[in-house]
Amino acid sequence: MKNKLLKLTLIMIALLAILALVACGGNSNTGTETGNSGSTTTDAPAGEVNGKVGIVLPTKDEPRWVQDEARFAEALQAAGYDVEILFSQGDSAKEKANVEDLITKGVQVIIITPHDGTAAAAAAEAAQAAGVKVISYDRLIRDTDAVDYYVTFDSIAVGAQQAQYLVDNASGTGNPLYLYAGAASDNNAFIFFEGAWGVLQPKIADGTFVIKNSSEAIALQDKAELTRDEMAQIIGQVTTNWDFNTAKNLAEANLTATTAEDKGDVFILAPNDGTARAIADAFAADTDVSSYLVTGQDAEKASVQYIIDGRQSMTVFKDVRTLVDDAINAAVALLQDQAPNATGAYNNGAVDVPAIQSPVVTVDGSNVKEVLIDSGYYDAADFTGLP
Ligand code: GAL
Repeated sequence: MKNKLLKLTLIMIALLAILALVACGGNSNTGTETGNSGSTTTDAPAGEVNGKVGIVLPTKDEPRWVQDEARFAEALQAAGYDVEILFSQGDSAKEKANVEDLITKGVQVIIITPHDGTAAAAAAEAAQAAGVKVISYDRLIRDTDAVDYYVTFDSIAVGAQQAQYLVDNASGTGNPLYLYAGAASDNNAFIFFEGAWGVLQPKIADGTFVIKNSSEAIALQDKAELTRDEMAQIIGQVTTNWDFNTAKNLAEANLTATTAEDKGDVFILAPNDGTARAIADAFAADTDVSSYLVTGQDAEKASVQYIIDGRQSMTVFKDVRTLVDDAINAAVALLQDQAPNATGAYNNGAVDVPAIQSPVVTVDGSNVKEVLIDSGYYDAADFTGLP
């Protein structure tokens, strides 16, 4: 009898030891990158907190998210956590499969940037059903209560700063204004547009700017505040879908549809850096355009070079390191069954999601060196012709 009890106790101890090892992810991984699945595993001695975290990012095709992957890997390695990073390649089905894969691997927290905010609700609900906590990262998952927390930049400020740059650099009246937006499936595209509209609309109303490429925006130009549906109508007409080629084709089509009087010195609201470069190239190639100002966001390296070269006017710098730290802190709190720090909440159409929000910085030729190079964010060697 005594022997049996001893045997049972030993088996239980062995089982618990195996479970602990699984939870910590072991120490044998070496930060391998696998091309096919687009997955990175960060080696980890468990750190002070037990538990596994998974990260799902939307696509490797945009430098923004490759940068987030690198900054996550950097921070996680330093902290010693075991984390797997998967990419969804702009496909909601793949995103859901990624989430299911992570659930099967025993994660307790998933940090996810949805490709499509509404479609991702199903993935978040699968996580919730499995008892896994969900952190929405940068983009909000919509229309579900299966989101525990949201880490984001101040996206209203992103749009407002883009618009303010155009306003600050315009004089007189009748300045041609071309509007472009992000993907309608991305909640951020609405927030950026809302922030920009708040600053631009009074300047459209007073005649400083004249909208040239959206009949929907012209129809709504007297309204200071737009509903989500109204914004959707405008965005539907000027969406870049966050895609370089879509942006370039749309800009070219807009330039073909307008006359020489609609061009001259033009002002362009472009939603992010990738689309800004595409749109800038299209406007630069039009001989009726004498000069253009174009906005952006993300401080992608290619756009930093464009700014140095005078081909893109500004970008909005979002320090990804801060967002990564906020996400890791939130994940650690959730692993410890604590509520992460929140500075406010965002309504996702179903619930108010507790959120933490970081500030953003306008960058142009005058401060690019100070903000992005002297600060150590990027290496000077990555650019030519720095001021
Ligand atoms: C947004 C994000 C931006 C930009 C864009 C395209 O949601 O906030 O930083 O990268 O997506 O991916």
